Amino acid sequence: MKTETTIQGLSASLNPARAARKIIGFVPTMGNLHEGHLNLVRAARKLCDVVVVSIFVNPIQFGPNEDFDNYPRTLEHDSHLLAEVGCDIVFAPSVEQMYGKQPRLTNISVSEITNDLCGLQRPGHFDGVAVVVTKLFNIVQPNFAFFGQKDYQQLAVIKQLVRDLNMPIEVIGVPITRAEDGLALSSRNGYLSEQERATAPSMYATLQAAEKQLQNGQSLDVVLSNIRQQLTEAGFDVDYVEVRTPMLQKIGQFDQDIVLFVAAKLGKTRLIDNLQVKHST
Ligand code: PAJ
Repeated sequence: MKTETTIQGLSASLNPARAARKIIGFVPTMGNLHEGHLNLVRAARKLCDVVVVSIFVNPIQFGPNEDFDNYPRTLEHDSHLLAEVGCDIVFAPSVEQMYGKQPRLTNISVSEITNDLCGLQRPGHFDGVAVVVTKLFNIVQPNFAFFGQKDYQQLAVIKQLVRDLNMPIEVIGVPITRAEDGLALSSRNGYLSEQERATAPSMYATLQAAEKQLQNGQSLDVVLSNIRQQLTEAGFDVDYVEVRTPMLQKIGQFDQDIVLFVAAKLGKTRLIDNLQVKHST
């Protein structure tokens, strides 16, 4: 496995594969890798000849009071994990390498679906993601790019971006990887105290209970308020409990496939989760 820290170096590494028309798979990450990330790499490995993983903590997607400075940077350990799952090239650029010294004047803003859910609590976040992912796509020029359904809204934003701007890339959504107790794996789980970590799995348990209630004919309104109540009782400070169609449109009734979304804080740590619920006709 090679590690490249410059755009030029990465191009030099990838050019022979491009010339040989190899299928290039790309997994963008911010590092501090866990099984969730590694499953994206495994999915890429299955489908592609060459697998590139980027590790870049992107400053412009963090709000002023978010954890950019404290975000865990564990490149050496990440590299070991990536080598084990068959990554070919790690791209780990500096902020300067990605953003240069000149001011950036171009923004990329996917409307509507970013002014919702996590976008409401994190203004500018999805613009920052859209910009860095577009830059990375242009640098890597992959055939396939892999994103986790853990960040369902982010996946939807990237799919929209690729479609709207005719980017010649196929975006693949990979299911959520969970701990045995159901907690969706996240780099931010490391911020949880022992007690908070013990409470955290109730987020997924609450979503699963909601799915059962819906399938038993309970109305969407009641189910959403049950989720909110159960999370609050468990000790979460709820940001939102919402339901959308798979394309993130608002919906009032459970009359088609839906996605349940929750975001809530345990102490200082904000956790998100979602569950796709099929409507049986
Ligand atoms: P990061 O949070 O490091 O996540 C990288 C990728 O791993 C994302 O596609 C995310 O959805 C996926 N992922 C994380 N936890 C997962 C889990 N438990 N199961 C499945 N997939 C999971 O998301 C970002 O970085 C950044 O916003 C990025 C896209 C790299 C742009 O900076």
